[in-house]
Amino acid sequence: MRDSETKSYVVGFEIGKPLTNTQIAKVIKSNNSQFNEGDTVIGFLPFQEYIALSGDELSGIRLLQNPLGIEDIRHFLGALGMPGLTAYSSLYEIGKPQKGETIFVSAASGAVGQIVGQLAKHEGLTVIGSVGSDEKLEFITKDLGYDAGFNYKTEKPSDALNRLAPEGIDIYYENVGGEHLQAALDSMKDHGRIVVCGLIAGYNLPREEHFPLRNYSYILTKRLTMRGFVVGDKGMGDKYRQEHQERVSQWIKDGTFKASTWECEGIENGIDGILALFHGYNFGKAPLNYLGNSTDLPRAKIGKVMMVYGNKSNAIYERAISTHEEHSRRLGYPLFVLRIPILQSYWNKYAILLSVLLQELAKPVDQRLEWLYWCDSDTVVMNPNMPLETFLPPSDMSNIHLLLTNDWNGINNGVFPIRVHPWSVELVSAALAYPATNPEKDLFWNDQSALSNTLKEASYFSQSVMYCPLRWFNAYMRSPNGEGLNPDSPEHYQVHPGDLLVHFPGTPHDVLEERLEPYLAIAEAHRQEWELSLEDTGYMEETVGFWKRNRRADDHPYSTSTSSVQSTLSATLQHVKPPRRFTGLTLRCLSGGVCRADYCYSIIFLCDIPATMASFIRPSGAMLGQMTRLSAPQSKTTPFAMALVRQTQMKNAPSSQITSFHSSAKRDILNPLPQVIQGTMNDPAPIPHSSPSHGSYHWTFERLIAASLVPLTIAPFAAGTLNPVMDSILATSLVLHSHIGFQALIVDYLPEKRVPKTRAFFVWGLRAATLTVAVGLYEFETNDVGITEALKRIWTA
Ligand SMILES: NC(=O)c1ccc[n+]([C@@H]2O[C@H](COP(=O)([O-])OP(=O)(O)OC[C@H]3O[C@@H](n4cnc5c(N)ncnc54)[C@H](OP(=O)(O)O)[C@@H]3O)[C@@H](O)[C@H]2O)c1
Repeated sequence: MRDSETKSYVVGFEIGKPLTNTQIAKVIKSNNSQFNEGDTVIGFLPFQEYIALSGDELSGIRLLQNPLGIEDIRHFLGALGMPGLTAYSSLYEIGKPQKGETIFVSAASGAVGQIVGQLAKHEGLTVIGSVGSDEKLEFITKDLGYDAGFNYKTEKPSDALNRLAPEGIDIYYENVGGEHLQAALDSMKDHGRIVVCGLIAGYNLPREEHFPLRNYSYILTKRLTMRGFVVGDKGMGDKYRQEHQERVSQWIKDGTFKASTWECEGIENGIDGILALFHGYNFGKAPLNYLGNSTDLPRAKIGKVMMVYGNKSNAIYERAISTHEEHSRRLGYPLFVLRIPILQSYWNKYAILLSVLLQELAKPVDQRLEWLYWCDSDTVVMNPNMPLETFLPPSDMSNIHLLLTNDWNGINNGVFPIRVHPWSVELVSAALAYPATNPEKDLFWNDQSALSNTLKEASYFSQSVMYCPLRWFNAYMRSPNGEGLNPDSPEHYQVHPGDLLVHFPGTPHDVLEERLEPYLAIAEAHRQEWELSLEDTGYMEETVGFWKRNRRADDHPYSTSTSSVQSTLSATLQHVKPPRRFTGLTLRCLSGGVCRADYCYSIIFLCDIPATMASFIRPSGAMLGQMTRLSAPQSKTTPFAMALVRQTQMKNAPSSQITSFHSSAKRDILNPLPQVIQGTMNDPAPIPHSSPSHGSYHWTFERLIAASLVPLTIAPFAAGTLNPVMDSILATSLVLHSHIGFQALIVDYLPEKRVPKTRAFFVWGLRAATLTVAVGLYEFETNDVGITEALKRIWTA
């Protein structure tokens, strides 16, 4: 980004002054005859929520004309605004498209690119686009009607153009520069045209780091026309403005033209929104919605699904659900709650999940949720500031569709994120159909066992599951009053301050209120020590480390450095709206004084980010650092920064690191033991009683015995004496040592819950064997030569 002093075709940002751009605003008070209260106006204005204009300043705004009644007025900042006019004027003036020709558009899903591509389709051209993610690729080819496209982060532009346009291209619409331009020059046909609209790949680089273009001689040899322009140039925007407005608004109205908007909500997130453009996180035109309360809310990427129904009193569940509502309200996650059962009892869980999955998949890709979090209604959100994006896999691990947690009983399906994907529909359908298709199987935990079996029985399903630490999104209760840890339960299962939620799996209904009450009280009091910001929880580092360790060879076919967390980040950026803090309406106005809303002439509620930031005004990196709090990736800041940290760290992650413990990557040598489930569906997992003889004393004793064997074995030989007492101690230690060793094998590999009879058989077998050996050794020591002497004789024989 350049310094404001560096010359360019537009004035740079100045530190301490508000940024400016095209904005749409509502007049809230006026004593000017041209503008009435309630009018919607558009104009080039500073980024601020309220502004008072008078005299000449009023010439910068005009009434927004919307003769066709286009519902989404954000189009007047995008397709019908400056980016649309940029695309329109330059394509016709410089590109001169002819039916049957081939055009290549870079940054094809961006505000300008998506208009160029659609205009070219209207003119009968073959359109090829380049984008920075698979999601964008799907968008341009499926929704915008591009004939073909590629993700330049996974395929080199030159390879892609050779593949997609072997005959060459007639027009290159340049938004990016660098490698794209080099590839396009290689592919240009004779007399082709290159419309140089933007060169975003080089905007933030010092001159010496710019891409070294080596094939510009083609401009001559292929007799190319290559022309840069600015939309405000005479003979560009002004020449085409009316035609552009008429044609494009008609196409938008009749639905033959699509224009996606990627809205950044809240003026406090504006800088994050600007930075997002340079990382490609935006999805089309990126307006900033100052107030964040427009009816056109930004597209959510994660939804939550819950259910509560039945005849029993649901008051406690409703209170628990209200903590989820608070979480959803703060961070903008749509919440689906089933209150009328669809199927029988537990199976409603998969029924509603399936219905929401299908509902989402039926939408165009750019309007869908990407993940759903299932949450049982006996879960209480303890930290409504915790973004759900935190726990999702990086975008390039796109083969992971389900995240599960395990407790000592196996999987627990009380809370889990599942990707909106056909795979998920298949899995949930298979689990739902499991009792019908496997009537002989005993599903002790009903839906949970059905899911568990479905995963076990089909690698198609199990290979797309990742098992995450339980505390991340499915933590269990700590002490009954929630204040301290429960010493009898493993700490890593217990909810800690800052954790997302606490789950009370299977707590019987009659004690549910008693168990949940203390936790609900903490949640409802919004206690500070529980409602930590993400960066204070340690989860940023933990999740980055986890995904880095658990990256499998097949997760990362192309190993690009920047794509790894983009969808997480883009989701975060789009959805994570910090808790809204209304502090009154006293704001700085243009006159430099302080005004209250009542005295202002207009209230600004939408503004156009991209032109300013992407092309016109580019502050230096240092300046940006000052402005954004994000200059240092490790700085504590918003989820945006979190994602940047992730991105930086992911960059360094070896692409083919294979997990050693990840269960979806493991290879079972023997068939797993049968699952035998005790209790009823979602019964609380019994916490084993702690006993010193099973814990530390046991281990200390065993270590002592193992350690004592070394001197006991060496001493008699070293000393040359054969002491019967020492010999007896050695024999006893040997018997104890082997007994403990075999006992550990039985405990580990033959769990009582799963194979109680086999285990009992082996336990008694071991006891009998130990007794036999002990008696034998006693005989050997008392009536024969003893161990040491026997060894000595064997050695010297
Ligand atoms: N000449 C003019 O009058 C005029 C007017 C308006 C805009 N412009 C220029 O036109 C271009 C497009 O503007 P826009 O409003 O449509 O921007 P935009 O799409 O809203 O945002 C920029 C897009 O460029 C892509 N990008 C960012 N960094 C990149 C990189 N290093 N390499 C490749 N692609 C990168 C990203 O998409 P991916 O995820 O697909 O990479 C990003 O979403 C910009 O260069 C802008 O400066 C010029």
